[in-house]
Amino acid sequence: MLVPDKKFIIGNWKGNPSHLSGALELARALGENSSKTTEVVICPPHVFLHPVQNAFAVSVSLGAQDIPTEKFSAEQLASLGVRYVILGHSSRRALGETDVQVNEKIRICLDNNLVPIICIGENTRDTEGNYLKELEAHIRASFAGYTKSDLEHMIIAYEPVWAIGEQATREASPEEFESSMIFIKKVLNDMTGNSPVGKLTIIYGGSVSTDEQLASYLTVGACGVLIGRASLDATVFNALCSRMKTL
Ligand code: PGA
Repeated sequence: MLVPDKKFIIGNWKGNPSHLSGALELARALGENSSKTTEVVICPPHVFLHPVQNAFAVSVSLGAQDIPTEKFSAEQLASLGVRYVILGHSSRRALGETDVQVNEKIRICLDNNLVPIICIGENTRDTEGNYLKELEAHIRASFAGYTKSDLEHMIIAYEPVWAIGEQATREASPEEFESSMIFIKKVLNDMTGNSPVGKLTIIYGGSVSTDEQLASYLTVGACGVLIGRASLDATVFNALCSRMKTL
């Protein structure tokens, strides 16, 4: 089970940097260790997992950006020191990854003691609330068959697609995050029976780069953040990690 009340700051380097030297430089520039209360997780591209793991200047956790479904992949990732795996990120969904595949990969992670970080979020947000149907469909398909206790071993990242990356129109407001988080819990409750789901680790991702944003999401109940672009600037990322420890 994930340590209750731990906060997560997860750097998702996506397809960056373009050269190994840049990845090593970034790994060496990390300045904040994970602590008892705050877990710092770095998710470099697959090809850089091993070299980066050996270059970290501080004690942080390693995450992969996906897991192949071949039989030995999970063991191989674990042997590199990988502990977390991002699943269903919008960049993978754009390449055709489905909720059914995400569902299958969650099982592979859980069976191999890897913590899945499952990204879910609507493509667009309308004012009539139709986006909730899209979100609900993702939740129902991605988590079908999982129990309340399985859910305690996962991190769920609410990442509305419209708030992520260069194309983002803006970040989701803390209130938007909060209402989506409540909705996610409600649907999961409904899927897993009458008693309320226990402790769920739900984090926010999408255009986070400032201390104020960090604090605002945590204030409304986020257990952490998934950071893309801002994790590629060591100074900015270190400052966010250090701030996270005070929240
Ligand atoms: P961003 O990306 O922080 O650059 O918006 C978040 C993500 O892709 O997980």
